Parts: sequence; C-alpha cells; structure tokens
Amino acid sequence: MKILGIESSCDETAATLLSCLPAGLSVVRAGREAKGGHLGVLQNVVWSQVQIHKKYGGVVPEVAARQHLSAIMPVIQEALGKTRKPDLIAVTRGPGLITSLAVGVQTAKTLSYVWGVPLIGVNHLEAHLWSFLLNKENKISLKKIKFPAMALIVSGGHTELILVKAVGKYKLIGQTLDDAAGECFDKVAKMLELGYPGGPMISHFAKSGDKNRIKFPRPMINSEDFDFSFSGLKTSVKYHLNDLAPTGSLSQQMLNDVCASFQTAIIDVLAEKTMKSAEKFQAKTVILGGGVSANEALIKKIQDAAAFRSLDFYYPEKWLTGDNAAMIALAGYFNKQKASKEIWRKLSVDANLKMA
Ligand code: KG4
Ligand code: ZN
Repeated sequence: MKILGIESSCDETAATLLSCLPAGLSVVRAGREAKGGHLGVLQNVVWSQVQIHKKYGGVVPEVAARQHLSAIMPVIQEALGKTRKPDLIAVTRGPGLITSLAVGVQTAKTLSYVWGVPLIGVNHLEAHLWSFLLNKENKISLKKIKFPAMALIVSGGHTELILVKAVGKYKLIGQTLDDAAGECFDKVAKMLELGYPGGPMISHFAKSGDKNRIKFPRPMINSEDFDFSFSGLKTSVKYHLNDLAPTGSLSQQMLNDVCASFQTAIIDVLAEKTMKSAEKFQAKTVILGGGVSANEALIKKIQDAAAFRSLDFYYPEKWLTGDNAAMIALAGYFNKQKASKEIWRKLSVDANLKMA
C-alpha cells in the first residue's frame, strides 16, 4: 500500500509517498529499504517558504496561499516519482491557515476524483503527535508504546497537552490561553532582531549563554490546571530589553544570556506541566511533537524528567519536527478505515479543527 501525504497548513508545501508493506516483504526504493510490516518513507518532499516570509517577520497568509498554489503540483509530482498513482491520499484539513489548507485539500480532492483513489482528511496535530514513529531506523513500533501516554504538542500555532489512550482516543488536558510556545519564541526573536523563524536562532545563541543571568517569570507553572500562558513572559523580555539596551543593541554575550534565560523559562513551564499531567493521569509514556520539539534543551529536560519517573519518552527525529507530509501520510494510515472514494464531494477545511 502506498499513501500520498499532502501538507499545506502553514508555510511548507509538502508531499510524501509512504509505503506500508505486508509483513515478510522487503523492497528498496529511492535508496531506502522498506521492510515488511513497517512503514517506509519512499520520497519526502518539503518546499519551505521561510525565505519568502522572512522579510515580513512572519507568515503572511495571502502570500503563503499563492506560494502553495504554485508549488503544490511540482512537489506532489516529485514525491510520486515513477509511481503513477497511490492507493490512498491523506491531506491536512486543519488546523492551520484557511487559505493555505484550501490549496492542499482542493488538490487532494481533485486527484482523488481523477484517479478514483480513496481520500482521507487528517488533523495536523494528530500527525505531529505520531511523527516520532517515522524514525529512519524503524526502531519504534506502535506495539511498543505503553498507554496511556501524555503528549505535548508544541508548534508555531499550538501548545497542547493531550492524553492518549490509544490511536484515535484523545483527551485535551491543557492548552495555551494566549501565545503558542513557538509563537513566543518567534516574537521574542523578533524583538532581538534575530529574524523568522525565531526558535532555531534562539536555541542556537542560548547554547553559549548563561541561563541564570536573568530570572524571567515562569507563567502558570504552579497553577492547578494544565493550561499555559506565554504572553507575560514575552512582555517581561520586552521590559528587560528596554533596561538592558536602552539604545537598542545588546552585546553578543548579553544576547546569548537573554536567549538562554528566556529559553530556560519557557522550557521549565513546558516540562513541569507535562510531568505534572503525566503523574495526575498515570501516564506510562511521554510523547513530544511539533516544530518546537526540535529544541534540544527541551528534549533533554523532558528526557531527564521522564527517566527520573521511569516513564518512556519518545520524540521525533529532527527532520520530522517541522511541518512535513510523511506525518500526514502516517496519520492517514492510522485513519484509513475512514477513507473513501466519495469524500472528495464533501471534504472541507477547518482552521480550528480539534483533536478531542
Ligand atoms: O510545527 P511547525 O513547523 O509549524 C506549525 O505547525 O506551527 O512549528 C514551527 C514553530 C516555529 O514557531 C519555530 O520557531 C519553532 O517551531 N521552532 C523552534 C525550534 N525550531 C523550530 N522553537 C524552539 N527551538 C527550536 N529549535
Ligand atoms: Zn505543524
């Protein structure tokens, strides 16, 4: 079975051909071996618009949609390679930017109709959640995961704690009340004139900084619930910058220290709430996913905390942290019983699609 995944929810146009072979078979395609009973990424294509949005300091929805429109067919063609048509098409139907989502969904619907291939609309956050299963070594299989699991999904648009009882059985435990974690990284990076996206730049400078130099607040770290709030932290950075650099420029060392102190504050809150919720709901496993899961300091913090509590911990390889269509194809595989050749008639986009 070959699944074509299509992703266009934000500023990445992506298509992936994923193979799901019956046990006992093994083939090599595109230089990679796909073993029977396993999932194999045959071709993964991501066309990033980051360079285009950089000059605006963030994603401009109108520009993003136009870029998806010109990129989507070449990206799909590249992912398909010599495969004439897949056995299933999986496309992100939300959450995300409505006009960006519409390009991917309309393309998927058209291909489904023309090819006569079943189609399924998937949730972008569910795809981030399971992305760790697509590691290249195929070492982690779903059978190994102990449930319930607590998943922290941290991206540019979302910060959610989700209790996972099984594939498809989710309960939202907590979420951000204002900015998402990635959004907070991006906004602070903007203040520091580090460009867009901010997360990778902040984590880069933080490596050479003193994380104890500035004591930034850890909003809601001790609250009884599992919600988050990052706008106060962002404002605190702004005030500190006014004091530290009234004329506008920071020394390189001070910049590193601000990055390290800020990153530690946000990570402390994310890790603390994840562990508290895991404890309360007696989770056996902790899962990390989404663009911010590329952050090595966050991985380390949760890894240590999970090990301390004897919990299993899974996170995606770096190439799977940002938006990609391999994870969309995988979510499609998990939901394949809902796919049909007729869905193109009614499949819609939902900017605020919920997982639970
Ligand atoms: O999942 P994603 O690619 O897109 C959305 O679905 O939103 O996440 C993008 C977010 C951006 O806010 C970016 O700054 C953040 O992930 N990010 C990071 C790092 N790499 C990307 N945040 C912190 N540290 C990083 N290393
Ligand atoms: Zn995403």
